[in-house]
Amino acid sequence: MPPTSDKKTKPTKSAPIHLRGFKDMLPEEAPFWQRAYSVASKLFSDYGFSEIGTPILEATSLFKRTLGEGTDIVDKEMFTFTDRSRDSVTLRPEMTAGICRAYVEHGMFNRPQPVKLWSWGPLFRYDRPQAGRFRQFHQLDIEIIGNNREVADAEVIFLSHLFCRELGIETTVQVNSLGSTEARKEYNKVLKDYYRSKRRLLCEDCTKRLAKNVLRLLDCKQPGCQPFIHEAPQLIDHLDEESKKHFVKVLEYLAESQVPYILNPYIVRGLDYYNRTAFELWPAFASQSEASAGEPVAAVSAPNALGGGGRYDGLIEQIGGRSTPAVGMAFGLERVVDLMKSSKVSLEETRPDVFLAQLGEEAAKHAFLIFEKLRSAGVRAVANFAREGLKGQLELANKLGVVFAVILGQKELLDGTIIIRDMENGIQEVVDLNKIADELKKRLKKN
Ligand code: HAM
Repeated sequence: MPPTSDKKTKPTKSAPIHLRGFKDMLPEEAPFWQRAYSVASKLFSDYGFSEIGTPILEATSLFKRTLGEGTDIVDKEMFTFTDRSRDSVTLRPEMTAGICRAYVEHGMFNRPQPVKLWSWGPLFRYDRPQAGRFRQFHQLDIEIIGNNREVADAEVIFLSHLFCRELGIETTVQVNSLGSTEARKEYNKVLKDYYRSKRRLLCEDCTKRLAKNVLRLLDCKQPGCQPFIHEAPQLIDHLDEESKKHFVKVLEYLAESQVPYILNPYIVRGLDYYNRTAFELWPAFASQSEASAGEPVAAVSAPNALGGGGRYDGLIEQIGGRSTPAVGMAFGLERVVDLMKSSKVSLEETRPDVFLAQLGEEAAKHAFLIFEKLRSAGVRAVANFAREGLKGQLELANKLGVVFAVILGQKELLDGTIIIRDMENGIQEVVDLNKIADELKKRLKKN
């Protein structure tokens, strides 16, 4: 008995499937990713950023030193293993550490400062998979290294907002200041005192955080911990004078450049290297509807931030470079693409205009050259070189919704001609094979 279609399509028990938290990018998603990449490469190169690529695998110590012990990423989420030389290596959980390593390693401090870089690629975090949270995901990352002025923070935020706008999605920036490292140490003591009496009421993770990294308590998403976060002393009230001035100026730049922002005192970020400005980009509708520009908001729960970043003036020195101020951010591209889809962002028309059908072996052999002639003349053509019968090929052309099919058979090949078939009314014309690209362009009204 022939197999039923069900049997044919259902994977057998032993067929492999992807790992939990990982996913395939299917062909129908590709246009969204391509659009995001092309907008990013144009926008950031227009603003003087250069693309950089760093390895996906780095020494584990690079991340431990920079991201901070006591952060979820370092404590629980890194894909770390020992390689064949018994060295501990880690699949990068973020890009900033690797980019700063490259900046130091290649002596980029000798180049005109600031050095403006952008990067695009996969990251790995052993996170609990859920909506918008994967174990392999992708980021678009931008960094301005070598400028301590407020204008650099504002440029990163302005461009992040602009990137989304160019993609057709609207965002609101939520911004906070984490102050200087010294001021934060003082604040940590205040926060520890506040939380000490509540220790027994905290979730298991927060109890650990209290000992290791008290600022992370403000990042907890557990419902039971939310009331304590709301009543906690706020970092913004413990800022040092220089950081306060810096923050006010950044906000002035944002207001002047018409970037919609709201103050969110609960943004502490999940990585330890930040000082001063910290921010996140949220879909505009998720940003506490009533808050107007500059007003503080209550802690924001789901859905997810599209991206986030901030200033990290100590990181480069920490990994052995000279003291170099820097600021940057990264978008989670799965989240950006999801929002593009749900916002029904219209993509450039990619439907082909012409189907190239061929009949017989000689015509099939010639088809590659004709296809290339059409493609290089700017005619969007499609073909299925593996199909033989004309009926099947024309059915396919119909399904693809092309305007014309061009048909090359044995006879046409001998005569040096080719048939153009109007797919709407079925009318066919024979034209000179050498002039096929011009004939089609004339009919498609393409220059
Ligand atoms: P981050 O906030 O850890 O910052 O990640 C940036 C963005 O990556 C998040 O806002 C989110 O959209 C996306 N993301 C993070 N984890 C996941 C996940 N498990 N699944 C899907 N998307 C995720 C950084 O990584 C910093 N390096 C940003 C930066 C650059 N700061 C300065 N320069």
